[in-house]
Amino acid sequence: MMRRTLFTLLGLAALLSACERPPVQSTQTGYRGTGMVQVDNPRSLAKAKAALPAIPDVGPPSAPADGPRARDVYQNVKVLGDLSPVEFNRQMLAFQQWVAPTQGCPYCHVDGNFADDSKYTKVVARRMLEMTRNINSRWTTHVAQTGVTCYTCHRGKPVPDNVWFTAVAPKNNRVGSGMGDDAGQNRAVPSIAWASLPYDPFTPFLLQDEPIRAQTGTALPTDNRMSIKQAEWTYSLMNHMSVALGVNCTFCHNTQSFQSWQGPAQRVTAWHGIRMVREMNKDYLTPLAATFPPQRLGPAGDVAKVFCQTCHQGVNKPLGGLAMAKDFEGLVKVAAAVPALPAPLAEDRRSVLYFDVGSAVLKGEQAKGLELLVATMAAERRVVATISGYHSAAGTLTANQELAKKRAFTVRDALIGAGIAQERVRLEKPRQTEANVAGEDPVARRVEITVR
Ligand code: HEC
Ligand code: HEC
Ligand code: HEC
Ligand code: HEC
Repeated sequence: MMRRTLFTLLGLAALLSACERPPVQSTQTGYRGTGMVQVDNPRSLAKAKAALPAIPDVGPPSAPADGPRARDVYQNVKVLGDLSPVEFNRQMLAFQQWVAPTQGCPYCHVDGNFADDSKYTKVVARRMLEMTRNINSRWTTHVAQTGVTCYTCHRGKPVPDNVWFTAVAPKNNRVGSGMGDDAGQNRAVPSIAWASLPYDPFTPFLLQDEPIRAQTGTALPTDNRMSIKQAEWTYSLMNHMSVALGVNCTFCHNTQSFQSWQGPAQRVTAWHGIRMVREMNKDYLTPLAATFPPQRLGPAGDVAKVFCQTCHQGVNKPLGGLAMAKDFEGLVKVAAAVPALPAPLAEDRRSVLYFDVGSAVLKGEQAKGLELLVATMAAERRVVATISGYHSAAGTLTANQELAKKRAFTVRDALIGAGIAQERVRLEKPRQTEANVAGEDPVARRVEITVR
C-alpha cells in the first residue's frame, strides 16, 4: 500500500515537472466572456528578457555630410551608393558585427579587393540588403517604425539559427505502401510545438500562397470545400506562430470565433506578416538557390527560408521591440526609381547625350547618338568636334563642374575610340543649365557635341 502511494506521488511529481510553477498572470485583452486573455508567466518573461543578446555597438550614426557619396569613392557599390563614405564604413562594420563577428571582413570580401564580387557571401549580402530595405520601407504594416536589421535574424552568425527547408517525404512515409499518405503527421518537430499535425505547413503557407482560412462560410455541405485535413494544416501553422512569438492563441484570436476579425489587432499585424514572409521567401531567398554552395541547400535543393521564428525567436516583438533600424540610413531607404533618360539627339553635325544623376557613364542607347556625327567626321577630314558638358544646379558647384568635365571626357574618349584623331576634338568649359527642376530634370545632365 505504502509503496503504491509512493509510486503515485513520484508519478505525479514527474507529470507536473513539465508544468510551470504558479502563479501566472493573466491580462484581459478583449470583452469579458470572449476568452480573450493572455496568460503569461512573469518568471519566464523575465528570463526571456534577460536572455536577449547584447546588441553590438558600432557607434552613433554619422552626421549628414555633403560631398562625394560612396558610389563616387568606391568602384562597385550598387545599393548603398547614397551614403557618405563615413556612414558606408560604419555600415560595413555593422555587417561584420551582425553577421560575421569572428570571420570579419574576409567573410564577404576577397583579400585586398573590396570591389570584387566573387565570394557568394557578398552577392547574398547585397540581396539581403535590398530585402531589409524592402521590409523597412514597404512593410510598416508589420514592422511599424521598429523595423529590422541584419541582426534581427542573424544575431552574430552567418546562418540564422531559425530557418526552414521544404521537407522531403521521409522513407517511412506510407505513400505507395497501400496505407495512405500520412501528410507529414506524427513526426515531432519543435517548430510546430511537437504537435502531431503536418510538420511542414511552411511550404504551402509561407512560400506558396495557399489559403489559410479553413472555416466554411456556409452551413450546408453544398459548395463547402473545407475539410478537417485543411484545418489540420492551418492548426500546424498556428502552432508555429504561437511558438515563434511565445504567445497563446488568444494573443490574436477571439476564442468565441477563431474566424472573427473582431479580436486583438495583433491578428491583423500577423496577417500582414504572413504576406511579408511569403514575399521574402519567393522574391529574395528562392532566387538565390543557384548562388549558394550546395552545402547550404536543403534536402530538396532549396535555400534556407524565413518563418516567424527567424525574426521573433520566442518574443512577440523581435529583440523586445528594440528599434535599431532607424540608426542605419542604409537599411531604411529604397533607392528612388531612376528616371528614364531622354533618347539621345543624333544628327550628322550635332549630338546631345544624357547621363544619370552623379554619373559620367554613357548608358544604354546614349552612345549610339554619336554614330551619324562620327560618319560625318570620317567623311569630312577638316571638321572639328566641340564638346560641352552641362550639369544641373543641384548640389555643390565644384563637384558638379568636375562631373560635367568627366562627362565631356567620356564623350571625347568615345570619339577617339571610334577612330577620330584627338586633335580634332575640342573641349569647352563645363556649364550650368538654367532650366532645372530640383536637380531631377534629366535634360540638365547632358553633353552637347557640335561639328564645324
Ligand atoms: C556580410 C557581408 C559583408 C561584410 C562582413 C563586409 N562587407 Fe563590405 N561590402 C559588402 C557588400 C554587399 C558590399 C556592396 C554594397 C553595395 O553594393 O551597395 C560591400 C562593399 C564594400 C566596399 C566597397 C568596395 C568597392 O570599391 O566597391 C568596401 C570598401 C567594403 N565593403 C569594406 C568592408 C570592410 C572594411 C569590412 C569589414 C569591417 C566589410 N566591408 C565587411 C558586404 C560585406
Ligand atoms: C529576415 C531575416 C534576415 C535578415 C533581416 C537578413 N538575413 Fe541574411 N540570411 C537570412 C537567411 C534565412 C539566410 C540563408 C541561410 C543560409 O546561408 O543558408 C541568410 C544568409 C545570409 C548570408 C550567407 C551566409 C552563409 O554563410 O551562407 C549572408 C552573408 C547574409 N545573410 C547577410 C545579411 C546581411 C548583410 C543582412 C542585412 C543587410 C541580412 N543578411 C539580413 C535571413 C536574414
Ligand atoms: C500571431 C497571431 C496568431 C496566433 C498566435 C494564432 N493565430 Fe490563428 N490566425 C491568425 C491569422 C492572421 C489568421 C488568418 C490567416 C490568413 O487568412 O492568412 C488565422 C487563422 C486561424 C484559423 C482559421 C480561421 C478561419 O477563418 O477559417 C484558425 C482555426 C486559427 N487561426 C486557429 C488558431 C489556433 C488554434 C491558435 C493557437 C494554437 C492560433 N490560431 C494562434 C493569427 C494567429
Ligand atoms: C523580418 C522580421 C519579422 C518576421 C519574419 C516576422 N515578424 Fe512579426 N514583427 C516584426 C517586428 C520588427 C515587429 C514589431 C513591430 C512593432 O514594434 O510594432 C513584429 C510584430 C509582430 C506582431 C505584433 C506584436 C505585438 O506585441 O503587438 C505580431 C502579432 C507578429 N509580429 C506576428 C508575426 C507572424 C505571425 C510572423 C510569421 C508569419 C511574423 N510576425 C514574422 C518582425 C518580423
